[in-house]
Amino acid sequence: MAMPAAATSLRPLAVATMTLIACLAPSLRQQLPGADAGASRQADFAAYDAQAKQLLAAMTLDEKIGQMIQPDQSALKDVGDIERYFLGSLLSGGGSGPKNKADYTLTGWTDLVDGYQRHALKTRLAIPLLYGIDAVHGHNNIPGAVIFPHNIALGCTRDAALVERIGRITAEEVRSTGINWVFAPCVTVPQDERWGRTYEGYSEEPQLVQELGAAALRGLQGSSLSDPLSVLACAKHFIGDGGTAYGSATTHGDHGLDQGDTRVDEATLRRIHLPGYISTVRAGVGTIMPSYSSWNGVKCSGNRLLLTDLLKHELGFSGFLISDYNAIDHLDADYKTCAEISINAGMDMVMVTDRYQILFADLKELALSGRVPMTRIDDAVTRILRVKFALGLMDKARSPLADRSLQASFGSAAHRLVARAAVRESLVLLKNDRHTLPLAAATRVHLAGRGANSLGMQCGGWTLDWQGRMEHLVPGGTSILAGMQEVAGPGHPITVSADGSGAAGAEVAVVVIGEKPYAEWAGDSVDLALAQVDVDAVATAKKAGIPVVVVLLSGRPLILGSVLEQADALVAAWLPGSEGGGVADIIYGIAKPQGKLSRTWPRSLDQLPISITGDPARYDPLFGFGFGLTY
Ligand code: GLC
Repeated sequence: MAMPAAATSLRPLAVATMTLIACLAPSLRQQLPGADAGASRQADFAAYDAQAKQLLAAMTLDEKIGQMIQPDQSALKDVGDIERYFLGSLLSGGGSGPKNKADYTLTGWTDLVDGYQRHALKTRLAIPLLYGIDAVHGHNNIPGAVIFPHNIALGCTRDAALVERIGRITAEEVRSTGINWVFAPCVTVPQDERWGRTYEGYSEEPQLVQELGAAALRGLQGSSLSDPLSVLACAKHFIGDGGTAYGSATTHGDHGLDQGDTRVDEATLRRIHLPGYISTVRAGVGTIMPSYSSWNGVKCSGNRLLLTDLLKHELGFSGFLISDYNAIDHLDADYKTCAEISINAGMDMVMVTDRYQILFADLKELALSGRVPMTRIDDAVTRILRVKFALGLMDKARSPLADRSLQASFGSAAHRLVARAAVRESLVLLKNDRHTLPLAAATRVHLAGRGANSLGMQCGGWTLDWQGRMEHLVPGGTSILAGMQEVAGPGHPITVSADGSGAAGAEVAVVVIGEKPYAEWAGDSVDLALAQVDVDAVATAKKAGIPVVVVLLSGRPLILGSVLEQADALVAAWLPGSEGGGVADIIYGIAKPQGKLSRTWPRSLDQLPISITGDPARYDPLFGFGFGLTY
């Protein structure tokens, strides 16, 4: 497909050119294998066409435009703007919650969301809000929620049924707060682990992503979107977010990958990055989020070939597209032109912060001037309304407010057991010389490392706040220390030091090291190196002359260096979440390790990017895709 080489800021002429290419691009017209399945899904939302169009006919232009705008709740200048601008949706982006920390509770969050919903119900047509949040490993913004392992860990379980179960529990905990839309599953296929969002992907391997993405969707949306325990899901970030070239990101720093440029031909884009969308569209996903990133120099958020021709026409996607957070801002120097490009490319709803009032005025002007055809506005609003009907939101017999009776199971022991099982299944045993593991309960253990007692490092980013820095607010969580003490039993005290000192009196040292929490471009790495403090802790423990077990808490494979040699046993624990007891279960042999690497583990930096999807001739990793030992 001919793509403008460097059309990074599309001007009206380029917009017209893109539209012309869209009409001529035969390749995108080719049917995907099983695309008919996509078409059958189209029936699911089209079933609500009549109701949606009937409501649309009664709507003013202002009311239509309000449905297409999703401000972050923290950016609302006046809560009355919900009525003033007929807003159809709000979101809580990372860290966007109740203003007062005293309200940062299950009740405080639920009151916040219900409060906004009540304003929406005061509008002329009383169309309820879709309220979106990044519940990407449990209802991770809310204190007391169960925090599941991040997707990179779930990829190592190869357990679709478990992933579906996690989706179901997440949906139930989300619904208990009155929220009805989650920006998950992330079906990215990260190819270079220097990317800060590697851990949000199940795997580097497309088929595994396809399978687990669909499983997560089934859990979240259930067998019917109208089930009160189901939430609207969102497959993201379309397309190629995990395939950007190192150093191609110019938005944040100059070494990055996040929001960069994916420079591959169409066949490669389809082979590696499309499968997760095929499976989730077939499974009836209600929303899809275009990526900040570009494909061969053109921003996905403004690419009609991708958003309309490929997704909506070829795959038969009949839900609606939600932009990423202020993602349309990067399409042009002029904001109104950004909106024109994105909406005409096929974007249906725009996620925005401070400029929601400007966006409202711009969209109205674009519609009245014809720069955005009224047919495009009506199509976008129809798509949004269809999803709201499918979700049961328009059913006057049902309240869109939170069902607080569900809060009885919020963060429950039963939910935590599922999370603990997920931790056990996700750990990958990379080395176990002389059968160092499992330990006996009576083994005298010295536990060391900055990750030994750190819920922050266990949970990683997207936990309570965007960058995962509020570990004091993970109530109900179990650190690895607490988990090991529980499994070993009170008669077998575990000594502890962060720096590895004091191990001499023990029989085995367990050193928990890894990455501090991060999210998005904050996690882009130039070298995947272990922190010196971690290397030192392992070396100090090693000096005690006893076997050393290293447990690595990380969002991706890291370059191990001397630690590989010094470790008698090495466990990749990824970002296991709140249930550190699952790590203890493996250490003490309550369960055998069964995890298989969902990503290739490089020997050295100069091998990157290295992936099972890449050149077999260059594939010489330290641990290959699918590797994992057991007892
Ligand atoms: C972020 C992320 C996206 C998330 C959205 C809302 O920038 O790219 O994954 O869903 O904004 O928080």
